Amino acid sequence: MIEAHRFSDIGKGLEGQVLNYLQENGQEATFSHLLTVAEENAKWAHFLGLDEEAAYDAGLLHDISVVIPDEERLAFHKERHLDILKAERHLPMLLHQQQSAVLAQEVFQVTNPAILSAIGCHTTLKEGASTFDCCLFLADKIKWDRGTIPPYLDEVMPLMHQKDLKKAAWLYLDWLFNNDIQVIHPWALAALKELRPQVVTK
Ligand SMILES: [Fe+2]
Ligand SMILES: [Fe+2]
Repeated sequence: MIEAHRFSDIGKGLEGQVLNYLQENGQEATFSHLLTVAEENAKWAHFLGLDEEAAYDAGLLHDISVVIPDEERLAFHKERHLDILKAERHLPMLLHQQQSAVLAQEVFQVTNPAILSAIGCHTTLKEGASTFDCCLFLADKIKWDRGTIPPYLDEVMPLMHQKDLKKAAWLYLDWLFNNDIQVIHPWALAALKELRPQVVTK
């Protein structure tokens, strides 16, 4: 079981705590992605009139469960009596979003439900997602960690500037379902259906 270490050194700020935690677990390579997404999320939160500090913290913690090896993810969930969906059983990496939210609570004592919600659905989104949820979801997709320019970026960015996050999120999900999906997660499918722009026919 991954132990929930509590940090006594609260003067270091969240960045230092996150970096320490990653280093202790041999995963410091993820730190630059976390910082990049934190900055991107805070930038869009400011633009959208959302809580900028909360957005920064959500970005810093969204992939913190990288410390859990994929082969331990099912056990991590079972130990906490959390539900596991069929898609997640098939591809345990899909649990990393919820497990990052669990570690944000257990290790970093995050209690803000908006932060925990956004972290917990940052890969798949979910039905009824808030604007804050969509903001982290999209910041992570704009700054994906594959070292290339995301193919959907040219279409997503104008929608961000128009503050149409729902359409931007739908556009990414539509790309995902048509190009890059390994296992269909029901939360992503529900979000795709909910966000699909309505076509008016006469
Ligand atoms: Fe992630
Ligand atoms: Fe990420």
